Amino acid sequence: MNAYTDLFSFVGANLQGSEIRRLFATSMQPDIISFAGGLPDPGSFPAQEVAEAVNKLLQQRGDLYLQYGPSSGTREGIDAAIHRMKNRSIHAEPAQIIMTSGSQQAIDIMTMIFIDPGDVILVEEPTFVGALGTFRNSQARIIGVPMDEQGIDITILKQTLQNAKQENHRVKFLYLIPNFQNPTGLTMSQERRVSVLQIAKEYDFMILEDDPYGELVFNGDLNSVRPLKAQDAEDRVIYTSSFSKIISPGIRLGWVLTAPHIIERFDMAKQMLDVCSNPLMQGLAWELCNSGFLDSHVTQLRRIYKSRADVMLAALQRYMPEGVSWTKPAGGFFIWLTLPRQINALEMLNTALAHNVAYVIGSAFSANSAGENTMRISFCHEQEEIIEKGVYRLAETIKDFISREG
Ligand SMILES: Cc1ncc(COP(=O)(O)O)c(C=O)c1O
Repeated sequence: MNAYTDLFSFVGANLQGSEIRRLFATSMQPDIISFAGGLPDPGSFPAQEVAEAVNKLLQQRGDLYLQYGPSSGTREGIDAAIHRMKNRSIHAEPAQIIMTSGSQQAIDIMTMIFIDPGDVILVEEPTFVGALGTFRNSQARIIGVPMDEQGIDITILKQTLQNAKQENHRVKFLYLIPNFQNPTGLTMSQERRVSVLQIAKEYDFMILEDDPYGELVFNGDLNSVRPLKAQDAEDRVIYTSSFSKIISPGIRLGWVLTAPHIIERFDMAKQMLDVCSNPLMQGLAWELCNSGFLDSHVTQLRRIYKSRADVMLAALQRYMPEGVSWTKPAGGFFIWLTLPRQINALEMLNTALAHNVAYVIGSAFSANSAGENTMRISFCHEQEEIIEKGVYRLAETIKDFISREG
C-alpha cells in the first residue's frame, strides 16, 4: 500500500493539498449551491471568438504555433501582456517580461528564485491559498500581517519587520494582492500603496504584486486600482497578472514583469519547469487584444460580476442574522464573511452541507490557520437567482447552528 513512500523527498512527503480542492468534491454535488470555488463564470467564456482566432492562427502558421516557443514567451504573448499593462498605467519593455503558465507559476518561480528554507515571506492575513501552499513547500517562514478596510495594516507591518530584524530573520519579499483580494475582496487604498513602497525601501525587501482581478473593477475606474508597479521607481516590485480571469483559466497564460536581470532568472527556471508557455494561446491572447475584442469583453465581465455581487450583497443584507458582517468588494470575485466569535466555520460546514450550501472556511487562507469564525463566499460562478437562494440557505445554516450551539 505504502510502497516507495519512504523514498519521498522532504518536500514530497510534506506536500499539502488545498482545503478548497478537498471541498470541491462535496460541493460539486448537484443539489448543493457552492460559493466555495473561485472559478470564472463559464457562460462568459468567449468560445466562439477563441475558435475563430485559433482557426485563423493555425491556418496562417500552424508550423509555428504548434512548435516549441521561446521560454520567455513569444513576441505575441509579450505584446498581449504589454497591452493589458498599458491599460493599468504600467509601461513595460519586452526584456522585462516573461510569459508563464498562469500567475500560479509566477508565484512558484518567484519562490524558487528568492527563497531558502527559513527565509521570511510576509503575506496579507488572510491571503491566496495557492500562494500559501507554494510558500509552505519552500520551507519559508511565512508571517501574516492583518488587514483592515484600507489593506495591509502599516503599523503591524513595521512592527513585524522590526521583530524580524531583531531576530536576524531575512525578509525576502512581501506578497500582496492589492485589488479585490482573494479571499477578502478588499482593495488597498492608494495611500497605503505609497506607504508600503516606502517601507519596502526602508527595510530593503521586494514586493510580489499579484494582480489577476484588477481589470474587473466594477465601475471601470482603473485609476482607483493603479498597481504599485505603476509607482515603483526603483524596480522593487515584481508584478504578475494573468489572462485567467479575463479570457479563461484553461488557456493557462499569465506573465511577470520585473527588471531584466531578474527576468533572466525566471527564464532559466521556466526552461527547467515546462520549457515554454503555449505559443498558440499566446497568439490567441494577442489576437483578442489587437482586435479590440478583449477590451469590450472585459467591460461585459465587469457588468456580469457587478450584478452578481450586488445580488449577493443585497441578499446578505436581507437574510443574515445580527452579528454577521461582510466586506463590500468594488470588483473581483469574493466576499469575506465574519461570523459571531463563538462560531467555528469548520464545525458549521456539515450543517451548511445539510442545508445544501458550501463555502470555504476562512482559516484555510491564514498563514497560521487563524480566523475560525470567517469564511469566503464567491459570487463569480453561480447565476443570480441561485446566489439569492444560496445566501438564504447560508443564513438559515448560521441561525440553525447558533440555536443548536447556544
Ligand atoms: C490571487 C490569485 N493569484 C493567482 C491565481 C492563479 O491564477 P492563474 O494561475 O490561473 O493565473 C489566482 C487564482 O485564483 C488568484 O486568485
